[in-house]
Amino acid sequence: AMAQATVSLNPTDEAPVIDKNIYGHFAEHLGRCIYDGLYVGEKSNIPNTEGVRNDIITALKELKIPNLRWPGGCFADTYHWKDGVGPQSERPTIVNTWWGNVTEDNSFGTHNFLNLCEELGAEPYLAGNVGSGEVQELADWVQYVNFDGISPMSDWRKENGREKPWGVKYWGVGNEAWGCGGNMRVEYYADIYRKYATFMSDAGMEGGLYKIASGASNDDYHWTEVLMRDIPHNLLQGVALHHYSVINWNAKGPSVGFSEEQYFKTMEQAWLMEELVTKHVEIMDKYDPKGKVDLIVDEWGGWYDVMEDTNPGFLFQQNTMRDAMIAGMTLNIFHNHARRVKMANLAQVVNVLQAVILTEGEKMILTPTYHVMKMYNVHQDAQLIPIELNTPDYEFNGEKLPAVNASASKDAEGKVHISLVNIDSKKSNTVSVDVSALNLKDFTATGLTSKTLEDHNTFESPEKIQPEQFKKFKLKNGTLEVELPPFSVVVLEGK
Ligand code: AHR
Repeated sequence: AMAQATVSLNPTDEAPVIDKNIYGHFAEHLGRCIYDGLYVGEKSNIPNTEGVRNDIITALKELKIPNLRWPGGCFADTYHWKDGVGPQSERPTIVNTWWGNVTEDNSFGTHNFLNLCEELGAEPYLAGNVGSGEVQELADWVQYVNFDGISPMSDWRKENGREKPWGVKYWGVGNEAWGCGGNMRVEYYADIYRKYATFMSDAGMEGGLYKIASGASNDDYHWTEVLMRDIPHNLLQGVALHHYSVINWNAKGPSVGFSEEQYFKTMEQAWLMEELVTKHVEIMDKYDPKGKVDLIVDEWGGWYDVMEDTNPGFLFQQNTMRDAMIAGMTLNIFHNHARRVKMANLAQVVNVLQAVILTEGEKMILTPTYHVMKMYNVHQDAQLIPIELNTPDYEFNGEKLPAVNASASKDAEGKVHISLVNIDSKKSNTVSVDVSALNLKDFTATGLTSKTLEDHNTFESPEKIQPEQFKKFKLKNGTLEVELPPFSVVVLEGK
C-alpha cells in the first residue's frame, strides 16, 4: 500500500542557522561508556591515544561530533573533580552510587576528557557538581581549566602537565536538580543556580562562559517558567530539557524483540519531543522575547530494558532500526526549532542507552543511530529552510501518528539537503517535495532501510545496516517524487 505526503520548501533569509551543536553527545561515568568503552587505558592492547580507543576516535571524527557532555548525568552531582587529576596511582576511589555501586579508580579525569575533546575537535561541555559539591569546588574547576595567569588552580594544572588552559565554554550548573541532582524544588534550585553561577569566573574565556541551568523533565513547564522568571538572564545562557523515548518506566520493553505495539509507543514518545519543545519555547518566549537564552536538550534518546545477562545499572541496550527512526525524527524536530534549540546531546555515546557505538573486547560496531547522525551531519551550521508538511498517518490499533516527518537546509556552498523519515512499520509513503522555489538541477540521495524493524548491527555482522545510495526518486516539473519504504530514513542532496 502506498500513501501520499507533500512537503513544500519555503526558503527565507530570516530562517535560523541549524547550530551544529544539536549533534552533540554525552559520556557519563556509567556502565561501559567510559571504562571498557571509550577508555581502555594506555597499557591496553587495543590501539589507543592516551588510553582512548583509536577506532572510537576515528568514528567520532567521521561523525563530526561537535561537543561532548561529561561526566554525567546523575554521576556529575557525586563527582569531585579534584580526585581525578594528578598521578593516577595516587587518586582516591569513588563509588558510583547511581550506576551499579561499582568502585572506580578515578583514572579517567579532567585532563583525559579535555585532551580527548581537543583530539576530536569537539567542544567540551562540563556538568558541575551542585548536588553534593560546593560553590568553591566548581569555581576552582573553572579556574583550573580556563585560567592562564598565576593562580592556585592554574599552577596545579601546570604541575599536572598541562601548560595552556583548555578554554571550556559550556558549563552545566548541576543536572536533573529535580531528581538525582538533589530532589530540589525549582524555586530553591533557581536561587542555588544564581549563587553557583555568580562564582564561576569568565576569566580566560573570551565572550564569557556559557552556563546552562538544569532543566525540566518532559512536560514540567513550571520548572522552565521559574528558571526563566527567577534567574537573571545575564547569568543564564541555556535552559536544559530532558526527554527520553521510554514507553513506561516500569515496563520499558526489550531493545530487540519488541512488539509492534511497543514500537508504536516508542514512536509516540519520540514524537512528543515536538510538543515539548514547542511548549517550553513558548514559555521562554514570554520571558525572553529576544531569544537570548537557548533551549538545550542535553539528554534524549530511546531507553529500553538492559540486554539479558548485563548489569541492570549499566543501561546497555541494542540499537535497531527503531532507534534510527527516533534519531531521524528527533533531529528533524530540532532543525525545525533551530531558532531556540541550539544544542542537544544524545544519551549516550558508547555502550549506554541509544549509543552510536557499541564495543565488545577489541571489537567495535557503529549502530543505525550512528549512520543516521552521519547522514544528517550535512545540516550542521546550514541555514534552515522552513517547510510545510502534509502527511498520512501511521495507524496502529485505532491510534494514529504522523507517518512522515522532514526538515531541510541550505549549506554554505548552496547545496540543499532534505531529510525524510517514514516511521510507518508497514506502508511505503510517497512524498512529493516541491523544490520549485530553489533552483536545483541535480539530486542524489542516501537511504537507511532494512528488512525488519528490529534489524541491527552485531559484532558478527557489523555492516548489516549501512547507508546506501537511494534511487527511488524522480524530479518532474519542480517536484521530487520520493518513494519512502516502511521505516526508512532518506537524505536528499540538491545542487
Ligand atoms: O542518561 C542516563 C541518566 O538519565 C542520566 O544520568 C540522568 O541525568 C538521567 O536521568
